Amino acid sequence: MTSTSEDLFDFIASTLKQFVEKEESGSEPSPVRTRELGFTFSFPVKQSSLRSGILIKWTKGFAIEDMVGKEVVELLEAAMVRSGLDMRAALLVNDTVGTLALGRYHDADTVAAVIIGTGTNACYLERADAIIKCQGLLTTSGYMAVNMEWGNFWSSHLPRTSYDIDLDSESPNPNDQGFEKMISGMYLGDIVRRVILRISLESDIFGPVSSRLSIPFILQTPLVAAMHEDDSPELKEVAKILKENLGISEVSLKVRKLAVRICDVVTRRAARLAAAGIVGILKKIGRDGSGGTAGGRSKSDVKMRRTVVAIEGGLYTSYAMFRQYLHGALSEILGEDVAQHVVLQVTEDGSGIGGALLAASYSSIPQRG
Ligand code: GLC
Repeated sequence: MTSTSEDLFDFIASTLKQFVEKEESGSEPSPVRTRELGFTFSFPVKQSSLRSGILIKWTKGFAIEDMVGKEVVELLEAAMVRSGLDMRAALLVNDTVGTLALGRYHDADTVAAVIIGTGTNACYLERADAIIKCQGLLTTSGYMAVNMEWGNFWSSHLPRTSYDIDLDSESPNPNDQGFEKMISGMYLGDIVRRVILRISLESDIFGPVSSRLSIPFILQTPLVAAMHEDDSPELKEVAKILKENLGISEVSLKVRKLAVRICDVVTRRAARLAAAGIVGILKKIGRDGSGGTAGGRSKSDVKMRRTVVAIEGGLYTSYAMFRQYLHGALSEILGEDVAQHVVLQVTEDGSGIGGALLAASYSSIPQRG
């Protein structure tokens, strides 16, 4: 994550080579010499064609400075040449775009895709004529996938706590990815840690200040989920995590409940912000049920089309409370009448399989069969 681009891509190319060798062993040699792949690169890219784009900046803790501004596909292909792997990239996509492709492959009503995992981001289908940058550019469908990079969304209306401000200023990318830092799995655990540390420094509720509380990222988000979802009467799991991970032992049930409450507040805020982001997309594409209000019709009179949003990422799929808060907020903002037409559909490995499907459909190699 912090080395050189050559190291990073040599690693990717060697892993890819092992994969190809494993796949090929025992099967007939392929008549195709140069194989093609879809390259899913889950970072902000200034994309100029199907297979070219430069890295704008790193997110999610990566910090390989020499790579910023470089052509991503060129770096991968150079590493594949170095490792003797005869392959080329048919296209470059973001993970949200792969997820949208997979979602749409399964369900034609899919109009957007959201990732809420280590990082968070979304993409959606926009009318090509509404994209100013692409005026005059013809697309066969009339639509184009827009990678929003919503992790970098910011608004002065979004209240920030001192925990958010400290987390941001101590991160490798200060002033960037503000929305992501309030929502995604990489950061939630650390917000909870910061809150417990502050309480611990300012009171004796958590006993003597544990030195572990000062270690960044020591509390990972899956542990927050485990504490939040501990349904044992004595909150045994909470006690265990406080002790083993944070070095806080012997706390009363009341204090364990406080720890759960902190997890709840941090997670609820994250889930509700993500829901607001999804509603933002639905509004933009006229799927929030407000399309016809101009003619004096009420929201509920407007016939809503079934609208599917493909969704992936560990925070959403593995953290039931997060999911519950997100769904609750969606219904709250949209109203039940509209929300019942919006389906959040979990896809599986859209970033891999969706990327591969796109690569297959844009391949320059004639397909057999
Ligand atoms: C980060 C990246 C973005 C990616 C998201 C989810 O926000 O900048 O490109 O889609 O993480 O992986």
